[in-house]
Amino acid sequence: MGDKAIALVTGASSGLGAEFCRQLAPRCRKMILVGRRVEQLSEVAESLQSQGLETVVIAEDLTTELGLTEVVEKIRQQGPVTILVNNAGFGTYGSFVDTDFDLQQKMVDLHISATLRLTRAVIPFMKEAGGGSIINLSSLGAFFPMKDCGVYAASKLFLNSFSESLQQELEPGNIRVQALCPGFTHTDFHARDEFADFDKSKTPAEMWMTPAEVVAESLDSLDKGGKVVFVAGEQNRALVQSK
Ligand SMILES: NC(=O)c1ccc[n+]([C@@H]2O[C@H](COP(=O)([O-])OP(=O)(O)OC[C@H]3O[C@@H](n4cnc5c(N)ncnc54)[C@H](OP(=O)(O)O)[C@@H]3O)[C@@H](O)[C@H]2O)c1
Repeated sequence: MGDKAIALVTGASSGLGAEFCRQLAPRCRKMILVGRRVEQLSEVAESLQSQGLETVVIAEDLTTELGLTEVVEKIRQQGPVTILVNNAGFGTYGSFVDTDFDLQQKMVDLHISATLRLTRAVIPFMKEAGGGSIINLSSLGAFFPMKDCGVYAASKLFLNSFSESLQQELEPGNIRVQALCPGFTHTDFHARDEFADFDKSKTPAEMWMTPAEVVAESLDSLDKGGKVVFVAGEQNRALVQSK
């Protein structure tokens, strides 16, 4: 990743997205932050501004056509985005037939459709700039059947497959693609209403990582030309290996 990039991070208002903003800051001159909660986005933006970055906050719902069109338009206006982090996402917890279908459809729209739209929008700019990085937030869940999270796991598996194929298409160009697969990570993810029935304490403490750890591993692997489908955390890599 070159210096002084323009980056776009979706789901920049909390958790892994906010952390990507923090850790990408030294490489960037401008950061475009997308999410729905404008106050939280502005807080992250202010901390970036204090480090000398220009920021653009886009408070839009990426599951809507209006929101996606707005973000794509901003990509055209704001100059060449050469770092894209498709991070916005959420999960549902409950059996497929009992979980609100609209919510599951929105999850597919957010994880898959928004990722595809934004990725398509930035690739021409990256090609023109001679390089770039695309990080798609997948999950350890992509490797396993996930009872009560079936649509979530399948949507993340889509991202792994898409990222690998895309990387092949973009070679021998200098555009790097990563499907980042974190395991349990301390963010707002499990605090949302959808996870009211999920008992965090049932997952052993050693399985949890901090956003700082996950993002540091992701960027390190990307810089070193690591695997496209990258599992964060030694304990999670061991789980995938032992499958
Ligand atoms: N935490 C984990 O254990 C874990 C594990 C594996 C993978 N992941 C993945 O990591 C990514 C980030 O999640 P997180 O753990 O950091 O959780 P988080 O703190 O809840 O962050 C999710 C982000 O997505 C944004 N978002 C949700 N719906 C949106 C929408 N309709 N339009 C625009 N933005 C939307 C949220 O912003 P607003 O609410 O402001 O819209 C928020 O910034 C997700 O893709 C998730 O699947 C998380």
